[in-house]
Amino acid sequence: MLLKKWIVNALILCGALGFGATATAQQGLRSQRPDFLIGFAAANDFWTLQDAQKFSEVAAREFNLITPENQMKWAIIHPESDVYQFAAADAHLAFARKNQMKVHGHVLVWHSQIPAWMLEKNWARNELIDAMYSHIDRVMGHFKNGVYMWDVVNEAFNEDGSMRPSFWQKNLGDSHLPLAFTRARLADSRAKLLYNDYNIETLNRKSDAVYKMVQAFRKNGVPIDAIGMQMHITSGGIDMTSFQQNMKRLANLGLDIYITEMDVRIPKNAQEAGLPDQAQVYAQVLKACLAQPACKGLQTWGMSDKYSWVSGFYKGFGSALLFDENYQPKPAYFAVEHVLKSTQ
Ligand code: G3I
Repeated sequence: MLLKKWIVNALILCGALGFGATATAQQGLRSQRPDFLIGFAAANDFWTLQDAQKFSEVAAREFNLITPENQMKWAIIHPESDVYQFAAADAHLAFARKNQMKVHGHVLVWHSQIPAWMLEKNWARNELIDAMYSHIDRVMGHFKNGVYMWDVVNEAFNEDGSMRPSFWQKNLGDSHLPLAFTRARLADSRAKLLYNDYNIETLNRKSDAVYKMVQAFRKNGVPIDAIGMQMHITSGGIDMTSFQQNMKRLANLGLDIYITEMDVRIPKNAQEAGLPDQAQVYAQVLKACLAQPACKGLQTWGMSDKYSWVSGFYKGFGSALLFDENYQPKPAYFAVEHVLKSTQ
């Protein structure tokens, strides 16, 4: 019954937007544009979910890029000073290998999910730099040849472009960024190195700060390959001209761009009504990305609405992804599929 409703909705929407889309998701997004990375963040231990089989089946059919949503974060992978737990992340890599997917490593240096043993200690500067280096060496070394790209530093800036007063900033100052990127290149010379953040899609004070950081990196020979734009947005969308201009200035610095964590949340009291807007937003963003040669991939932060972080975090919002809670493709899915197909 629910499936029927979605199909009808999707067909209505496709008609309305001029999309000649199919009503089922049998082929998968990845097969529409094999040259483009289309990815998702995978729920913790997804192989243990009660609907693990469905989860894996849809993931393998649809995506050629996977990010462990949480299981490469410091607190999880390195919970004690002398303990590394790689098993969960290894299972993601095995799944990726089996299904010919690339892996996006998330994340090496971040203000959140820092384990207690790190936070509780009084660090001398050199001691903390050594700890950061050994974490980067150990984690990147473990996944060498298995992880295609790494978020080296995540969310280091405030909205006004100043530095976030994070654990790293307080202890090491601005230098934690070049130190982390330089070490990451040494630890795995083939992995793509990303700076990743939210609200940096358009031209604003935060994206200006990121731009200036990369200019300084270029001047000083600090390695960086790409910017990850998280893109946690609403069905109201973003300023597309500003997004295009921002991508252009980053591309002019020789950077690649990845949309790393896209979701488009809808107010809970307008779920059905918000679906066409949501589809439009996904389609516009993907189209602009595909029109910019430096933009190499788009990932959603989750796959099914069933396991999305959104409703837990943004009270009154939900339904932000391409698949509903029953893994049925939503209008946004068909809009994305259409853009991939029609821009080949
Ligand atoms: O690991 C503990 C577990 O021991 C404990 O029993 C459980 C009880 O709540 O919590 C577990 O930690 C949770 C963690 O996910 C791992 O599952 C945290 O409570 C929970 O807050 C955490 O949420 C994640 C959040 O990042 C913080 O790390 C979300 O699932 C994840 O979607 C979200 O992802 C972030 C990206 O990393 C960076 N960009 C923004 C994005 C959305 O916030």
